[in-house]
Amino acid sequence: MDAIVLLKEDHKTVEALFKRFEQAGERAHAEKRRLVDTITKELVTHAYIEEEIFYPAARAKVPETTDHVLESIEEHHVVVWMLSELKDLDPTDEFFTAKVTVLIENVRHHVEEEEKDWFPQVRAAVGRKELQELGERMAKAKADAPSEPLAVKSSKA
Ligand SMILES: [Fe+2]
Ligand SMILES: [Fe+2]
Repeated sequence: MDAIVLLKEDHKTVEALFKRFEQAGERAHAEKRRLVDTITKELVTHAYIEEEIFYPAARAKVPETTDHVLESIEEHHVVVWMLSELKDLDPTDEFFTAKVTVLIENVRHHVEEEEKDWFPQVRAAVGRKELQELGERMAKAKADAPSEPLAVKSSKA
């Protein structure tokens, strides 16, 4: 599995969950809670494999994208803190949907920057074989991802 293909597949999975959240009824509290729990699991796992494997490799291979990598880590930072707050927030709280909406806006912006600006630069600089190896390592590392959002390194960035 090519690393960039794997990451884009994750992005699609999360986007589908975002759409389900946006389509859920205003009073669908239990469904919204479940969706946020699933979104949290997906995003924490994704952030973990990016931060542990893809970001450092891309930074080393394409040093001119270092600023982009650092900004991306800061964006993860905001996302994991929001996820940690959502964990303890009751879905009937008036801020619950507001917080998820801002989370979704943040992640969509982040994904767009990764896919449009940065991944093409990485693909151009890193060989196909190496992207395959990175993808295999990331697929395996998913099993080691923490469940706690603040256990991801960027929480301290
Ligand atoms: Fe990311
Ligand atoms: Fe990503």
